Amino acid sequence: GSSIPEVAPAPSPAKAPACGGDGRRVSTVLIIIAMQTEALPLVNKFQLSEDTDGSLFPKGVPWVRYHGKYKELDINLVWPGKDSVLGVDSVGTVSASLVTYASVQALKPDLIINAGTAGGFKAKGACVGDVYLASDVAFHDRRIPIPVGKLSTGDSLDMSPQDEAAILANDATIKDMEGAAVSYVAGLLSVPAIFVKAVTDIVDGEKPTPEEFLQNLIAVTAALDQAVSQVIDFLSGKCLSEL
Ligand code: ADE
Repeated sequence: GSSIPEVAPAPSPAKAPACGGDGRRVSTVLIIIAMQTEALPLVNKFQLSEDTDGSLFPKGVPWVRYHGKYKELDINLVWPGKDSVLGVDSVGTVSASLVTYASVQALKPDLIINAGTAGGFKAKGACVGDVYLASDVAFHDRRIPIPVGKLSTGDSLDMSPQDEAAILANDATIKDMEGAAVSYVAGLLSVPAIFVKAVTDIVDGEKPTPEEFLQNLIAVTAALDQAVSQVIDFLSGKCLSEL
């Protein structure tokens, strides 16, 4: 009789090995960035498009979501937008908490990245342009004793003597205005978070902070965005258990 030719099974596409731990691969990433100046270079770099649908967030809020695919990741970048009364970026812990909460509820990310600029302490070795990956964060203006953190967060760009004592007690190398708020919400909702902070000014240096901050913002933002890109490249294809 006629023989049936044996057909080799089609080779299956190369697959990354299964994830250990809880078996999840990083797929959806949520980047929270407070300032437009910090956000736009990343929007361009990852070719993200602005969400014009308007159904993600409550009506009337200034929050802006950009999204797109990059390698194996669904990237969402959320910027809290400009304050409708003052016309400035909505920096600080209140906006950071709200947009983080609303974005996590709507997007169910596997991981949050809070990226931004920060003041650095030269006594701890920080220099302008350095980019820090902080794993521990704390608030410094709540007057509640809490465990030490490397990144200290408060709602002021300047530093009162009381803040300074709390920041020292936090053993912080850098100081920002959103990290601990994002960390708080990430903890509430059990989403892992990474903090990428680039130093624009030396808090314990000679120069006035607002001037030094504005002088270095653009150049340091380039270093920040490079670091965020490296983090994103590192994350693509990784399992949560590998981080
Ligand atoms: N972001 C950039 N510089 C900062 C500083 N000195 N304090 C808080 N946030 C900052």
